[in-house]
Amino acid sequence: MLVFCVIACLVGASLQTENNLDVPNPTSVPDYFQTTYGPFAGATKAGEAPFLAQTNPVLHEPTYVPNAPLVTTLSISGQPRGGNIFALMGTLSPYRANPDGFGVDEYALPPGANITQIHMVHRHGARYPTSGSATAEWAQKLIDSRKNRTVFSGDLAFLNSWDYKLGEAELTARGRQELFDSGVLHFFNYGKLYNAASKIIARTTTMVRMLQSAENFLIGFFGPAWTSNATLEVIVESDGFNNSLAGNKMCENANNDNGATGDEAMDAWRAVYLRNATERFRRQISGSSNLNWTVEDTYNAQTMCSYETVALGYSSFCMLFTWEEWEGFAYMTDLKLYGNYGMGSPVGRSIGLGFVEELIARLERHFPDPPEDSIAFNRTLDEQTSTFPLNQSIYFDFSHDNEMFSMLTALGLTQFGQFLPATHPSPKRALVGSHIVPFAARFVIEVIHAPRPIRATRTRNGRTLDSVYEDRGGETTYVHLLVNQRTVPLGRSIAACGRRDDGWCELGTFIQAQRYNIEKANYEASCFGNYSLPAYGEIRDGAFPRNGTL
Ligand SMILES: *[C@@H]1O[C@H](CO)[C@@H](O)[C@H](O)[C@H]1NC(C)=O
Ligand SMILES: *[C@@H]1O[C@H](CO)[C@@H](O)[C@H](O)[C@H]1NC(C)=O
Ligand SMILES: *[C@@H]1O[C@H](CO)[C@@H](O)[C@H](O)[C@H]1NC(C)=O
Ligand SMILES: *[C@@H]1O[C@H](CO)[C@@H](O)[C@H](O)[C@H]1NC(C)=O
Ligand SMILES: *[C@@H]1O[C@H](CO)[C@@H](O)[C@H](O)[C@H]1NC(C)=O
Ligand SMILES: *[C@@H]1O[C@H](CO)[C@@H](O)[C@H](O)[C@H]1NC(C)=O
Ligand SMILES: *[C@@H]1O[C@H](CO)[C@@H](O)[C@H](O)[C@H]1NC(C)=O
Ligand SMILES: *[C@@H]1O[C@H](CO)[C@@H](O)[C@H](O)[C@H]1NC(C)=O
Ligand SMILES: *[C@@H]1O[C@H](CO)[C@@H](O)[C@H](O)[C@H]1NC(C)=O
Repeated sequence: MLVFCVIACLVGASLQTENNLDVPNPTSVPDYFQTTYGPFAGATKAGEAPFLAQTNPVLHEPTYVPNAPLVTTLSISGQPRGGNIFALMGTLSPYRANPDGFGVDEYALPPGANITQIHMVHRHGARYPTSGSATAEWAQKLIDSRKNRTVFSGDLAFLNSWDYKLGEAELTARGRQELFDSGVLHFFNYGKLYNAASKIIARTTTMVRMLQSAENFLIGFFGPAWTSNATLEVIVESDGFNNSLAGNKMCENANNDNGATGDEAMDAWRAVYLRNATERFRRQISGSSNLNWTVEDTYNAQTMCSYETVALGYSSFCMLFTWEEWEGFAYMTDLKLYGNYGMGSPVGRSIGLGFVEELIARLERHFPDPPEDSIAFNRTLDEQTSTFPLNQSIYFDFSHDNEMFSMLTALGLTQFGQFLPATHPSPKRALVGSHIVPFAARFVIEVIHAPRPIRATRTRNGRTLDSVYEDRGGETTYVHLLVNQRTVPLGRSIAACGRRDDGWCELGTFIQAQRYNIEKANYEASCFGNYSLPAYGEIRDGAFPRNGTL
């Protein structure tokens, strides 16, 4: 304020400017703190919006390589050539496009076909540990133990002077970058779908990291003046509030952990894969008051590597572990997603159900109309166009890792629902957390309008109309699901979609399957039924069984 006054007084502007920066005093020289465009802004002209998703003929592999300042070239014992432990951090992995794909290739849009709509759900970017996590408390315990003359040696020697430097729950700089980069990427891919004549509504939740993520994305997509292009709708995320982007908060058995069947599997697996490391570390701790270092401590140390890296750029904790132990860490996430938010949990489908109901509504352009016992969204918001518009070609929603995984579960993607043993990582599993919901994960459903049906079998060089399109049939609309820039073959889970090389599904077929998926969630019984935590392995279809017994 003082600095402002000094300059304002020097240039003779009235102090009124301080309260109304948009209306500079016309008799004064420009206000140096005014960042909206003024008379000296120079000439500019906007170019045409790109539409790379529609025009890109080269889609065989992800071509997007973000600027990455993090130190990720560490020497890890047992690391294979080209391996990188940052791909093994599950939901704590910094964002990167899924390098392996989901079992099909990506195909360029056939000539004559148009992308007419996209539905995107985006996770927040890299963040500090949340208040509920054990990380900060564990750090304090470690630091306190030094006051009891605990001494660390060998690989752990750095702990004698280590300090906890992380914040809580908000985005790190890396997280901001991930969302900004994604906004830029999606503008390249879909910018043309935006009609500058009408603002769109994008939705996020009330949590700080959710707002920060949405804002950074929108700055990337539209630029810093994004508020003239989009209105951000902020839905309350708190226990008991209906929120389709945070479905756990409105589902009692998710809130009270009755659906968390994965915890048991995680405890069992943790004791197996960290036994060696725990023994190793115990030999490096001495002093008059020994810290009783357990498997949980080892796990917290491993988690600290992920958090410090995305917040500080480098972490001494990372190299304490072998490649095999990092593979074990990755599997912890997969067990959690499967058992608590996927097909292994009685609330797996229910937590993500609201998104499915809203997706059908947006695709069919009417308000959501599921059965009365399956309302998984906020009706007040979803029954008026000011908060649930039906005329957009671009829908941007922001959510969380677990809830997004449940959305994919609610969409009936059984290919991510294969049973995972708690005794060893299932080697050929499709459920790999860092491929599905890493930091800044995103999935996009494209709606593609084609003049004729597109052949299920495609060849890479078949670019001409005759080879790509069926000889018969009229205009046909498809949906194409991309998770972290790679196509998810819908036919793998939804048989009616067929075995298509491109993984797409005819729109009507897809919607019909999704209506059936609403029933499969068994929402009322799964979320509000009186049952106790099922044993791991008892639930295999993401819902409390319709016949009411386990
Ligand atoms: C120090 O050790 C004592 C005795 O084991 C224990 O009660 C106390 O909590 C320890 N203090 C810290 C700061 O760890
Ligand atoms: C949707 O309809 C509303 C109400 O008519 C209008 O204000 C808004 O600009 C439209 N949005 C788009 C994206 O066309
Ligand atoms: C955002 O809105 C402004 C003001 O209407 C417009 O000039 C600009 O072109 C829009 N941005 C995009 C990317 O269309
Ligand atoms: C639904 O949203 C409205 C508007 O934000 C809010 O006032 C109301 O409390 C919400 N209801 C539930 C059940 O979440
Ligand atoms: C633990 O050590 C044993 C014996 O050296 C080894 O065979 C095993 O692979 C190790 N396990 C892990 C998870 O590192
Ligand atoms: C140390 O922790 C282990 C595992 O929790 C426990 O079995 C053991 O009794 C503890 N030892 C001491 C001395 O507290
Ligand atoms: C909130 O969700 C519950 C449970 O599905 C439903 O009964 C209720 O009508 C919903 N309320 C609103 C305002 O959406
Ligand atoms: C695709 O868009 C072009 C240009 O707007 C239009 O001429 C054509 O009819 C559209 N094709 C389909 C299948 O909708
Ligand atoms: C749930 O069921 C248990 C066992 O049948 C019973 O003791 C308990 O009172 C029930 N709770 C509610 C809220 O109905």
